[in-house]
Amino acid sequence: MNSTIDKFPDFGLTPHQRRQAVRGHYYEWPGMDGERGEIWCYSDRFSYRRGEMVALHVSSTAPSFSMAITRDGGTETKMFEKTGIAARWQDTPDQCSVVGCGWDASFEFRVGDDWPSGAYRVTLAADGRDGKPIRYHHIFIVSPQPGKKRGRVLQVAATGTWLSYNTWGGSNHYQGITGPNRDQYAPEVSTQRPWCRGFVVLPKEAPRVPLEVAVPPKTVPRYPHMEWAFATGHSKKYASSGWASYDSHFFRFAERASYAVDLASQHELHFSPEILDGYDCVVFVGHDEYWTWEMRDAVDAYVERGGHAARFAGNFMWQTRLEDEGRRQVCYKYRARAEDPVYRGGDVTRATNSWEAPEIGRPGAMTFGLNATKGLYAGWGGCAPRGVRGFPVYRPEHWAFAGTGIYYGDLLGADSHVYGYEVDGLDHEIRGGLPYPTSDSGAPDGLQILAVGMASQVEESADIAFEDQFLGDADGRFSAEMLFGEASDANLDKVKHSNGMIVNFPRGKGEVFHAGSCEWVAGLLKQDAMVERVTKNVLDRYLGKS
Ligand SMILES: [Fe+2]
Repeated sequence: MNSTIDKFPDFGLTPHQRRQAVRGHYYEWPGMDGERGEIWCYSDRFSYRRGEMVALHVSSTAPSFSMAITRDGGTETKMFEKTGIAARWQDTPDQCSVVGCGWDASFEFRVGDDWPSGAYRVTLAADGRDGKPIRYHHIFIVSPQPGKKRGRVLQVAATGTWLSYNTWGGSNHYQGITGPNRDQYAPEVSTQRPWCRGFVVLPKEAPRVPLEVAVPPKTVPRYPHMEWAFATGHSKKYASSGWASYDSHFFRFAERASYAVDLASQHELHFSPEILDGYDCVVFVGHDEYWTWEMRDAVDAYVERGGHAARFAGNFMWQTRLEDEGRRQVCYKYRARAEDPVYRGGDVTRATNSWEAPEIGRPGAMTFGLNATKGLYAGWGGCAPRGVRGFPVYRPEHWAFAGTGIYYGDLLGADSHVYGYEVDGLDHEIRGGLPYPTSDSGAPDGLQILAVGMASQVEESADIAFEDQFLGDADGRFSAEMLFGEASDANLDKVKHSNGMIVNFPRGKGEVFHAGSCEWVAGLLKQDAMVERVTKNVLDRYLGKS
């Protein structure tokens, strides 16, 4: 593989620090930069329409700051600038990740009538106490106006997943400072807090999750992205979610390739599903793991009516609920059956558990053709670290591959490493050298499997001591219990071997294309010609251009 290097990078960390980088719980909190001082900011919502007021809530050790707003698309356009805005340090509750920061609004402005839909980066700068500048980057979305949008693409940013991974304040849906020992992840997270460092902008050298090293024999896995995060003061989860690592790469690609593309948050899917109506093509990209029931209703109804959904994303795993007018996201995850109140007298179909939990009865495949627990990890930890990197193609004659020159058995996107680090799959069988969904797979009628790679739900290797396992078998045991009632070894064996796919199927009057991998956007970032071609084939067909 010409894009690989043969040695793990070293970011100047000691072995002890490396362990902390991967095992430790570190996060952004007010006061973390000590004497230098800090400036932080969040907006009252993720997205706004033209003419609506944006409230920025700022806490700063400096008495004033300057602000620039730049639209971050195929080109960067500065939209607004202001200096000398007054600020103050604002008190923050200890459990701000859960209850929100509760800061007073510091500055309000109206979204201009000529501001195109897209992502708007807010850069705040002030003087640190040591005389050097302090900075913070925030992002908000300008969502499109209602109406017919012939020829335009709507990209829905994976904001539910951004929120789930946001480390600011100490707690998210992965790790946290909740519970009696301040060591539990939070089942409830608030939108009313800043984004963690690395979700809005990243330097080019920031590693992605999948390993770019050719892993030597008998190697204990390393995690370059977490080591880099620890060494450079970025969020531990910068490479797992966020505009900078994922959504931005599709949006910029689409604009540079002359597609007219609008951007919305998942909150619009939930609260204003009619936003989809005007579009011929709706796109989801990156690490897209958390959805509400209502968001799925919106997409299902849109496709039934004749819409086209293209998902270049992986890990369709958890149902969430939105509360407090969308300011609170609820997901009990692994603790759902024990703790989610809907199991004690509520509507259990809305349980914040895996979509494949039988009591919910709505596997992800019903909407997008693939399921998270039939997929999962590829290309990191002890899960296929030497795996395929690209999608192994079985049906090169499919329209999606037109003009690529790809052959049966080729890997699509191997050089740009589009396959990983979490993928979605389906039970299937190979007949006559071609994959077909099994009869009990839950695949929608007419689903065609175009590509299949291997994945794993369990980190297992004779070469990795238990204490060196990061992924371990916890996810596998959870899936075993969730699907089969008990986390036994026998049930673990049923779930641990999995796959990631590209699939395509008709639904109602519409159609769905799904390349089930978080890292598809790496192919767009790295300008992989075949990945770009397939992406354009899908967009052109769904926009009626081909
Ligand atoms: Fe995930």
